[in-house]
Amino acid sequence: MGKLTDYVEFQGIKVYYTNKLDGGGADFGQDYIDFIGGNFPPQKRVFEWCSGPGFIGFSLLAHGLCKTLCLADINPLAIEACSKTVRLNNLESKVTVYLSDNLKNIPPSEKWDLVVGNPPHFKRVCTKKRSPEIIFLDKDWALHREFYKDVGKFLKQNGTLVIQENALRSRVESFREMIESNGLSIVDTPICKLDSRYYYIRALRRQ
Ligand SMILES: C[S@@+](CC[C@H](N)C(=O)[O-])C[C@H]1O[C@@H](n2cnc3c(N)ncnc32)[C@H](O)[C@@H]1O
Repeated sequence: MGKLTDYVEFQGIKVYYTNKLDGGGADFGQDYIDFIGGNFPPQKRVFEWCSGPGFIGFSLLAHGLCKTLCLADINPLAIEACSKTVRLNNLESKVTVYLSDNLKNIPPSEKWDLVVGNPPHFKRVCTKKRSPEIIFLDKDWALHREFYKDVGKFLKQNGTLVIQENALRSRVESFREMIESNGLSIVDTPICKLDSRYYYIRALRRQ
């Protein structure tokens, strides 16, 4: 673990991280800025699932695409990084951070207009991967399955999910059943313009 002195800056917000926490959110994850900016009005409250250092969420906030932000990750070091970013950018009134295994520690009072996330993209270990398993591995999609089962409780009436996935490792059919059997409807699955190895699954809460 580095000393959390590295940062990347989005429109004046300095986001602290180390290489071991970086799952691509400062790179292809920044495709969200164009996609959300082009398809959604500014959102009241956004949740970044599997946030790591919060590259995507903090950038949405910095670009004026949401008013407040909620972040959660299972890795205490990621949460330490998020908390440092909040503190050093004076974002306490706008950003809430939870150390949480998936959505287990999220209080029922949390209600989100939009959920984004760049979760682990591999359903099994691939020997060539060099990053820590926590970054890339979601064994047999258990994390995704549990997320789609529980996320509806935290979505506002017209709440939307826009989740980034890796087209080399999954297709929408990998997730369709777990999404549609939990009160959500898939709207579309556009490719990320910044990096065509990635795509989004956009889903809405059914009324
Ligand atoms: C691909 S990385 C993405 C990190 C960051 N969002 C980014 O875009 O760079 C996946 C993230 O999922 C987190 N994660 C893995 N298992 C988790 C779980 N059970 N609950 C919450 N977060 C988890 C990891 O700690 C890691 O931060």
